[in-house]
Amino acid sequence: MRMYDLILKKRNGKHLKEEEIQWMIHEYTEGRIPDYQMSAMMMAVYFQGLNREETYHLTAAMAQSGDLLDLSEISGIKVDKHSTGGVGDKTSLALGPIAASLGVSVAKMSGRGLGHTGGTIDKLESIPGFSTELSESHFIQQVKDIGMAIVGQTKDLAPADKRLYALRDVTATVDEMSLIASSIMSKKLAAGADAIVLDVKTGNGAFMKKPADAEKLAEIMVDIGTEAGRKMTAVISNMDEPLGYAIGNALEVKEAIETLQGNGPKDFTKLVYTLGSYMLIAAQKAGNMDEAMQKIENSVKSGKAMDKFIEFVKAQGGDIQAVKDVSILPKADIIEEIPAKEDGFVGRIETEEMGICSLILGGGRETKDSSIDPSAGLILRKKVGDTVKKGDILAEIHGNDLSKVLQAKEHFYQNYIITKEKIEKKSMIQKVLF
Ligand code: URA
Repeated sequence: MRMYDLILKKRNGKHLKEEEIQWMIHEYTEGRIPDYQMSAMMMAVYFQGLNREETYHLTAAMAQSGDLLDLSEISGIKVDKHSTGGVGDKTSLALGPIAASLGVSVAKMSGRGLGHTGGTIDKLESIPGFSTELSESHFIQQVKDIGMAIVGQTKDLAPADKRLYALRDVTATVDEMSLIASSIMSKKLAAGADAIVLDVKTGNGAFMKKPADAEKLAEIMVDIGTEAGRKMTAVISNMDEPLGYAIGNALEVKEAIETLQGNGPKDFTKLVYTLGSYMLIAAQKAGNMDEAMQKIENSVKSGKAMDKFIEFVKAQGGDIQAVKDVSILPKADIIEEIPAKEDGFVGRIETEEMGICSLILGGGRETKDSSIDPSAGLILRKKVGDTVKKGDILAEIHGNDLSKVLQAKEHFYQNYIITKEKIEKKSMIQKVLF
């Protein structure tokens, strides 16, 4: 086979066969196809698209390009969860312990934050001592022992996707629906769970700004997973404002803990309980949504969910005192309150820009190698639709460098819009696909 012929075929709108896709991904992973040819292929795909079969074969080839996690030692149905990413998304921190406290085995690989989005691994590492690097056998043993583990993604998981994603990033070919779906699903398939619950975000802080695009992406991912024999659920959720109130690593850990104690923000609690219910149903721990919701409420009320979080933090070397008494978590030296300059309603929050505020403060990463300040970020006090009086505090900015705090404050004002008319808030859960 020759890469030239495959590029020509795709450029002319024809469909690639399974063996052609497998060969291409294998040769590319081995370094025998140069980036310039793969870039041309990605651009051809960008304009011609991939059909259902091609998308599935690309996903399977990328999943098989590295390690395939074998979770068969863990009994029962293993459930994974994935979010397409947003701002203030601390969902896994609360969801994992809730699901595990109700008998679901949660073996999860998560990522770090980049740019305006945060990552679960960075958030967990803001707990002193917490380790996200476990060997595969330790990871599996921990899930067997306590029902959950969250680790960083190993470099051997879907290495073809890693190379291809970096290439797409610099060739303006990231935002093609089949390529996004196959990239996400290749890692999920390689991570070995029997059931996968996807949280596909839509809104001004999401990858997919329009609900119709989020739905299409969800449909493609559900289709790929189903074809691969996994039980799939996709929840389309609102990301037209940050999730909850806290943005920033330690600040989000604190909010996740409050949620596990039953005192979390309404929107975040709704999302966590909904995703949790679908995880329970997928794991056959509940027969329907009402039963699942009831079980989750009981787990939170009785303290079981919080106990599971403490057990999980302890198992991964974290300081459980910092979880029991959140005042021990990393704290910023400067806390600057941001007052409203006029009366009105919160009309629009430019969500990505709120993530940028956290990035300016040091709570995010500009490049893959930058270090982050776990204490930095912001806490919103008001969200879309809330009434505002001049002088009300809209948010707190947490930082350790006054010039960055002032820069973030300026950025906040530019991207937090007060209107005279009350805006209807979008519902948290927009649609669910199976
Ligand atoms: N996240 C991924 O893992 N891959 C993409 O292509 C886009 C988002």
